[in-house]
Amino acid sequence: MPATIILGSQWGDEGKGKLVDRLAEQATWVVRFQGGNNAGHTVVLGDQVLKFHLLPSGITRKECNLILGDGMVIDPWVLDTELKGWEESSGEDPSGDRLFVSERAHIILPYHRYMDSLDKKIGTTGRGIGPTYADKINRIGLRFGDLAEVIDDSHWASSTAERMNAALEAVGSKDRVNASDLASEVKWIFERYQSAIAPTGVMLDNALKLGERVILEGAQGCLLDIDQGTYPFVTSSVTSRGNATHGAGIHPGHVDEVIGITKAYITRVGNGGMPTELEDEIGHHLGTIGHEFGTTTGRKRRCGWFDAVVMRHAQRINGFTGLALTKLDVLGGLEEIKICVAYELDGKEIHEMPSSATALERCKPIYVSTPGFPAHSLDEWLDIAKAANRDGKGINALPAAAQNYIRQLEGLLGVPVTSVGVGPDRDATIDLV
Ligand code: GDP
Ligand code: IMO
Ligand code: MG
Repeated sequence: MPATIILGSQWGDEGKGKLVDRLAEQATWVVRFQGGNNAGHTVVLGDQVLKFHLLPSGITRKECNLILGDGMVIDPWVLDTELKGWEESSGEDPSGDRLFVSERAHIILPYHRYMDSLDKKIGTTGRGIGPTYADKINRIGLRFGDLAEVIDDSHWASSTAERMNAALEAVGSKDRVNASDLASEVKWIFERYQSAIAPTGVMLDNALKLGERVILEGAQGCLLDIDQGTYPFVTSSVTSRGNATHGAGIHPGHVDEVIGITKAYITRVGNGGMPTELEDEIGHHLGTIGHEFGTTTGRKRRCGWFDAVVMRHAQRINGFTGLALTKLDVLGGLEEIKICVAYELDGKEIHEMPSSATALERCKPIYVSTPGFPAHSLDEWLDIAKAANRDGKGINALPAAAQNYIRQLEGLLGVPVTSVGVGPDRDATIDLV
């Protein structure tokens, strides 16, 4: 059976965790293939709110195997905390049993966090992501599979600490790495994860050959992609389809479905241009009703109208086979809904995103407008979704104006909307096909 890729198509936080948890019911493997604990993925099961930074969101399905893949950067202490949290709530320690860490994944060490804490420009999550990927690209990173070779090697610890301290000093940081602390840290990481470190690409390839279903869970979103995003205000990995299989250690031929997740509006955390950003009462409505606060850092998310220019860009890069529209409920109660269809840049109308961050800052949105629909409580939306799925009503369960909005988005992007989210709960999603 082939693999499904689930990707954020905006600036992250589109609802990847919720969709992965939902679809994982039919999967045998859920794989994170890039990023690290800059991600914050939420799964809501009734009264229980689960937030995952490193654990794949399919962990909620006991029969699902989980992989932290080749392309990831992993903070072993954060993973330990998440695993302990999971064990407390579920009684299960999945490490080495159904959770595996790629021997090729890179390790985030305290040094990387010290370096990241100096960021003043991008508004990073401060989790050490960029500095760890920088070491990877410089070919001086430490991978899980290489731990066995460096533990008990005092020369490795002293020369690595020396290099790190020189780099910290050069950028004016007061933090320092102690060689004997570093030696104990790598020993602890090795012992803690020894049973889980595995050739995960080979395991996945074998599973696919046996006909098992694999979900590749993206982190961040297309506009945060290091190559295709709003550089330099991006994350340090390739968040897009091209890297999903590569970062998992399998080939692209396995994939038959690529779902792009998009909010019914747009949000962004951190710095950089965002043409449809709203700093008025509508932005306030979206932020308040949508609870738009970062899952990882708690920062307030910037909110704006749906941006079809952003989405066309994401579609060109990813070739989505379907769109999962989330947070439609949050638009309820607005009289009018706007969709950005183009930008005005220096007096000219443009239909593609400029590559330059400064040009993007100068872009003004060109909108079309469509009528809004009434607000419902989350319980009412949940009932609407459950009834729609039970009776096979699909889009017809939604108010006419909401249906019209969805059809307009499909028309603008040329991709079918396959599900519509109307609340945070696992069951608050209407399947359209
Ligand atoms: P991710 O990083 O893409 O997994 O998304 P986050 O979990 O960071 O942020 C999405 C937020 O929206 C979470 O708080 C979810 O519980 C919530 N959410 C997801 N889908 C919906 C939806 O359809 N409606 C509402 N109201 N909330 C949703
Ligand atoms: P999920 O997976 C939203 C943003 C940061 C910052 C930029 C670079 O939950 O959608 P980094 O720490 O990666 O070097 O920060 O990227 N960012 C996210 N924004 N959701 C995320 O993940 C993000 N991961 C990183 O806010 O602007
Ligand atoms: Mg998130």
